[in-house]
Amino acid sequence: MQSDSIILGIESSCDDTSAAVLINGKVCSNITANQDVHRKFGGVVPELASRAHQSNIIPVIDQAIKTAGIENQQISAIAVTQGPGLMGSLIVGLNTAKSLSLGWNIPLIGVNHLQAHVAALFIDHKVEFPMLCLLVSGGHTQLIWAESFTHTEIIGETIDDAVGEAFDKASKLMGLGYPGGPIISKLASTGNAKRFQFNDSQVGPYDFSFSGVKTSLLYFLRDEKAKNSEFIEQNLNDICASYEISLIQMLTKRFNNAIKDKKPKSISIAGGVSANSALRSAVMELSAKYNLPAYIPDFQYCTDNAAMIAKAGQFLLEAEKFISYDALPYSRS
Ligand code: KG4
Ligand code: ZN
Repeated sequence: MQSDSIILGIESSCDDTSAAVLINGKVCSNITANQDVHRKFGGVVPELASRAHQSNIIPVIDQAIKTAGIENQQISAIAVTQGPGLMGSLIVGLNTAKSLSLGWNIPLIGVNHLQAHVAALFIDHKVEFPMLCLLVSGGHTQLIWAESFTHTEIIGETIDDAVGEAFDKASKLMGLGYPGGPIISKLASTGNAKRFQFNDSQVGPYDFSFSGVKTSLLYFLRDEKAKNSEFIEQNLNDICASYEISLIQMLTKRFNNAIKDKKPKSISIAGGVSANSALRSAVMELSAKYNLPAYIPDFQYCTDNAAMIAKAGQFLLEAEKFISYDALPYSRS
């Protein structure tokens, strides 16, 4: 009788400590400890992140194993984020994974965090290739052409900030807190998106730029506040809605260009910003326009999580792609 394939996934690339158990391709637990310590700084403080990972990682792994109802000895392999991400944070996850792999005498799999965001799509969907994926996170904005999970090509990407950063920085400018995406999105839901205009930049057809729109928000707020010191408070929902729609249109314009030219068999979004409702609706519109299946991750798999690391680990395990104990983390992709 063939034994079960049980993968323990570990993610610690930024400010979330997460562990998940995947049994024969099915997610049986996915536990994440968020780090509230960064909130008051309006962004992730790397040193605080690695310290919080150190205290969270063992309890989180423990809970993931217990929730899945398995024993340590049943685990077949460990998949861990090797990069890109914050160096100190990655080291905590990778070293923990190395120790467990050595102690339990099971293979170790190094996962690329961006590939894992794409792997999240495979948790709930049977994917049709070639697929065009818009990967939108706090650190990256890419258009990925995927012939299969392992054969991918970046056909477009941001030349400066990531779209998640454009949300986070705008939130900081308005004193709203971190992470900015969900905060802005919630406020935007009751605002008038046509009230203010924030212009797109001139890059393309598949590349993105978000530093200009962020700067135009900065100057706009500065000028309006000079006339009315209460301007932000009095118009918050409309500012958020107008800013959000500008970002979403900048994304969908390039996505549309690429779908039209490259003619994929399916489209998808992945990464933290794929939790955004306005983006999710815009992608469903593209799906209807081109009559293509669209894969949108379940909310729990949009932002950083270990289930996606374990899922990527499953493909790498099948391809027997392991790493050794001297493998190093990498901060950039
Ligand atoms: O993928 P992720 O969890 O971490 C990285 O790999 O970067 O993405 C985090 C980003 C943050 O910038 C956050 O503001 C954004 O995803 N985000 C959102 C939403 N939820 C998270 N942006 C817009 N709307 C949301 N609902
Ligand atoms: Zn991520």
